Amino acid sequence: MKYQTQKVAYPFFIAALLLFAGQVLFGLLAGAVYVWPEFMAEAMPFHIMRMSHTNLLVVWLLIGFFGATYYLLPEEAETELHSPMIAYIQLGIFVFAGAAALVGYQFGIHEGREFLEQPLWVKILLTISFLMFLYNGSRTLLAGRRTAISMILMAGLWLAAIFWLFSFYNPSNLSLDKMYWWYVIHLWVEGVWGLIMASLLAYLLVKMSGVDREIIEKWLYVIVGLVLFAGLLGTGHHYYWIGTPGYWQPLGNIFGALEVLPLFSMVVFTFYMFWQGSRNHPNKAAILWTLGCAVMAFFGAGVWGLMHNMSWVNYYSHGTQVTAAHGHLAFYGAYVMLNLAVISYAMPQLRGKLPYNQIRNMWSFWMMTGGMAFMTFTLTFAGVVQTHLQRVMGENYMTTQDQIWVFYAMRFGAGIIVVIGALVFLWATLGKPREQTPKGAAHVAAGSADG
Ligand code: HEM
Ligand code: HEM
Ligand SMILES: [Fe+2]
Repeated sequence: MKYQTQKVAYPFFIAALLLFAGQVLFGLLAGAVYVWPEFMAEAMPFHIMRMSHTNLLVVWLLIGFFGATYYLLPEEAETELHSPMIAYIQLGIFVFAGAAALVGYQFGIHEGREFLEQPLWVKILLTISFLMFLYNGSRTLLAGRRTAISMILMAGLWLAAIFWLFSFYNPSNLSLDKMYWWYVIHLWVEGVWGLIMASLLAYLLVKMSGVDREIIEKWLYVIVGLVLFAGLLGTGHHYYWIGTPGYWQPLGNIFGALEVLPLFSMVVFTFYMFWQGSRNHPNKAAILWTLGCAVMAFFGAGVWGLMHNMSWVNYYSHGTQVTAAHGHLAFYGAYVMLNLAVISYAMPQLRGKLPYNQIRNMWSFWMMTGGMAFMTFTLTFAGVVQTHLQRVMGENYMTTQDQIWVFYAMRFGAGIIVVIGALVFLWATLGKPREQTPKGAAHVAAGSADG
């Protein structure tokens, strides 16, 4: 770690990881309801568990992105961060607002628009915190060296904030409501967050593969171009039957399908760089998460997205467990693994330790990734059977649910493994580091002087 102010990232990563643990625990509760429908029905209804689960997810991912930005900006810009104080205050506001929303949900206080359930004042606080972050980051960026990585990262975060503003607009016309809802949901995960993903992966590759920055940046431009080219009009795959004009059908089919290209390029990009690279970086856990992120994002977002992308498939599968299968693997592969890759890379340096506990960290990788993959398969089977029985045969919703109970039971089992894997990750990154043998330590120290 070259710059003092990089340590600002530390509390961000700790907060992100704690909220991550909360997120998967709420997921497990919601998963239990699918197995035992009466589970906690009085104490905490399903929709409250669900919004707690998904809101914690998005909040911790954003905190992770903030931390990642604060961590890499000084290095990239070759100057100290503009203001550590703004960063800490901004984190405080964000965590407070997220926690307040979470507590409110338990008392039934929410606005009931999926993912955007936060009460107005919470949304305003989140916006203020986000703007403070953007100010702090942009000042740092403008004060120093501007690299493709830092420019694209900050552009992604600015655009995320701008599209977030559409969450304040909730027209009473249901078609318009949905239309603008996707400006936040789709244009975040398949548009501007793609800039964040590509630039953070590029940063990790610059640090760990040893390939020249110039080469990595060329790839980065191509991938970002593809993300925007396909992702923006790809919004059409949500506009098939919500009352939008018919031309959205071909647009959604074509550009939605094209969204697979940037995801595939990211797999080739990460593998090719590590294969070409000369550096034997000692942080094998961070390398594993980096490669895993590209691969699982390709499957979760690309393959599972394409599966229900076409209008003639989506006509039947819309809103079934097929969607949930895709939603889980896509979010996990692209953004959860991305954050865990950055945290695995940065944490040892933030704590002034050599890469440590890599075995524990890698165990958590396989438990979580295996668990999420299995969960995705069970949900996919559930979704296919559900689509057939409910949408093709015309059985009613609850009759169908009875037939696919066994998949929900298996999903719950997979969920337990994911939760344990997440706790092992916390243990590996926050717990007491294991002693290094002098020989091992010397080897690791020599290799960790990364540029
Ligand atoms: C990292 C990237 C992605 C993430 C995080 C993601 C996440 C999600 C989530 C959470 C939903 C459900 C939204 C809801 O509540 O209704 C969804 C729906 C959908 N996604 Fe993605 N997605 C990603 C990429 C993609 C890609 C690349 C494609 C196409 C190839 C795609 C196609 C779709 C479609 C067609 C739906 C609508 C499903 C329905 O009609 O029920 N997604 N996505
Ligand atoms: C890091 C891991 C996880 C991520 C990224 C994640 C993400 C998500 C997302 C994006 C949704 C909304 C899906 C949609 O609209 O289609 C969701 C819903 C849900 N998640 Fe998770 N989740 C994770 C872990 C878990 C775990 C461990 C369980 C436990 C079984 C779980 C159970 C559920 C349930 C039951 C729902 C509600 C689905 C529905 O309404 O049908 N999740 N999760
Ligand atoms: Fe989409």
